[in-house]
Amino acid sequence: MAGKTAVIFYSSTGNTEAMAEAVAVGARSCGADVLLASVSDVDAETIGKEYDCILLGCSAWGVEVIEEAQMKPFSKKLEPFLKGKYMGVFGSCGWSRGAWLNSWESELHFAGGIFPAAPVRAYGYPDEESLKACEELGKTVVKEAENASV
Ligand SMILES: Cc1cc2nc3c(=O)[nH]c(=O)nc-3n(C[C@H](O)[C@H](O)[C@H](O)COP(=O)(O)O)c2cc1C
Repeated sequence: MAGKTAVIFYSSTGNTEAMAEAVAVGARSCGADVLLASVSDVDAETIGKEYDCILLGCSAWGVEVIEEAQMKPFSKKLEPFLKGKYMGVFGSCGWSRGAWLNSWESELHFAGGIFPAAPVRAYGYPDEESLKACEELGKTVVKEAENASV
């Protein structure tokens, strides 16, 4: 059975939020019970304890990093709960080749997260292809978690 899935995002102008919505659509299409929420509305400990799959979205910020006032502390607080969790990362940027998502994924992987699919990136507002990739990301993470639990 598909487990509880959290899709948590930081988005300043709605670009990564649109990606998060597509990730949630993909996860729900596999039967997952999905929480879709802005990082400002959730508590890291609750997400870490209660969800089997955790997908995180954040736009590129600063110089090729995730946003530092909300998502960075959330992500750090989540780390102690990540061992064995099925995860994915995604986000929108202006010009990046993906450094902020790759380093974020590495940190979360080092904390114990399992990443069955590559990070998904969009430039500005996500186009059709990026939205499809987000749906696939949601599907893959949920399916892999389900396969591992049987
Ligand atoms: C303060 C600031 C820093 C940014 N830093 C980067 C960056 O390092 N690399 C990049 O590709 N885009 C950068 N951007 C562009 C945003 O990532 C881009 O506009 C993105 O689409 C915003 O998505 P959102 O609406 O989900 O926040 C930056 C934007 C701002 C406002």
